[in-house]
Amino acid sequence: MDKDVNKLVNRLEEEFQNFKKDLKETTNLKELEKLKVNYLGKKSLITTTLKNIGSLPNDLKPVVGKNTNIYRKKIQASLDQKVEFFESLEFDKKLRKEKIDLSLPGKKPELGSKNIITQVIEEIEEIFIGMGFKIAEGPEVELDYYNFEALNTPEDHPARSLHDTFFISDDVLLRTHTSPMQVRYMEKYQPPINIIVPGKVYRRDYDVSHTPMFTQIEGLVVDKDINFKHLKWTLETVARKIFGRDRRVRFRPHYFPFTEPSAEMDVSCKICDGKGCRVCSGSGWLEILGAGMVDPNVYKFVGYDPDEFTGFAFGIGIERICMLKYGINDLRAFFENDMRFIRQF
Ligand code: DAH
Repeated sequence: MDKDVNKLVNRLEEEFQNFKKDLKETTNLKELEKLKVNYLGKKSLITTTLKNIGSLPNDLKPVVGKNTNIYRKKIQASLDQKVEFFESLEFDKKLRKEKIDLSLPGKKPELGSKNIITQVIEEIEEIFIGMGFKIAEGPEVELDYYNFEALNTPEDHPARSLHDTFFISDDVLLRTHTSPMQVRYMEKYQPPINIIVPGKVYRRDYDVSHTPMFTQIEGLVVDKDINFKHLKWTLETVARKIFGRDRRVRFRPHYFPFTEPSAEMDVSCKICDGKGCRVCSGSGWLEILGAGMVDPNVYKFVGYDPDEFTGFAFGIGIERICMLKYGINDLRAFFENDMRFIRQF
């Protein structure tokens, strides 16, 4: 019996020595897993010995069990130790990989600048505020009623076709101009009124001088005894503040459904001083806005008495002002966000 036990202990010791040798050669957790299968797995010496204890004579059972378990525990303990070692190595590696080098130079955030359209809107707003105007804003998704109907432009009016409207439904659209805010404002407030309304407007158009979205500033002045001289003085003054004191202005008769009489205003060309050049197509003048005395029909829609109040209105195209002020000849440049263009302003 002693001989059998000795033989087994020798074999277990030999197995353990082999295990230690193999263990030394493992370099990662995966290899360690393989080692565990070899020495403690189903087919390993340790496991098969323990499994077969039942078939041994009774007096051998406890000694074999005890010795085998001693080696099983020794192997398991060595494996555990090594697992811990490899795990800490991997953790170190991960930490090193995720380490932030605080000494590296930072990335400088690129500073943007205000779009030139915004700059010009703000400049014009300042001019009007200086003259006692208030700023009002209205919705870009608008009712047909405000965009056309109440501006004296009924369903079958030919002026509608000039607007190339984006319709959302039969009676909802993207506003084609800032003029609807005239009606909205007069519905809500009584004269005296002096407001400007900056904002985006939309038309189905796209070429060098048209984009589907562009910007306008609407103006409205209503009070007792307002006449065309007030209109003329106000717009002349503003034009000279925008383009310079030497600019001359002129008014040409025009037609708008919601003003009567109506006019377009030109400023003398800055490039040729009115002599005629390429920029002004040889005419010496550049058109910058539409204006007129508010049509009495519009007052009827908002419940004002046309015998009591008179007023004037105007609409300025902002992109056009920018193009003239800075000599830009393609309208689309404003919206394409080319950094080389934007950086100039
Ligand atoms: N709403 C006109 C347009 O977009 C511009 C305009 C003309 C506005 C005359 C006015 C005005 O207020 O009186 O073409």
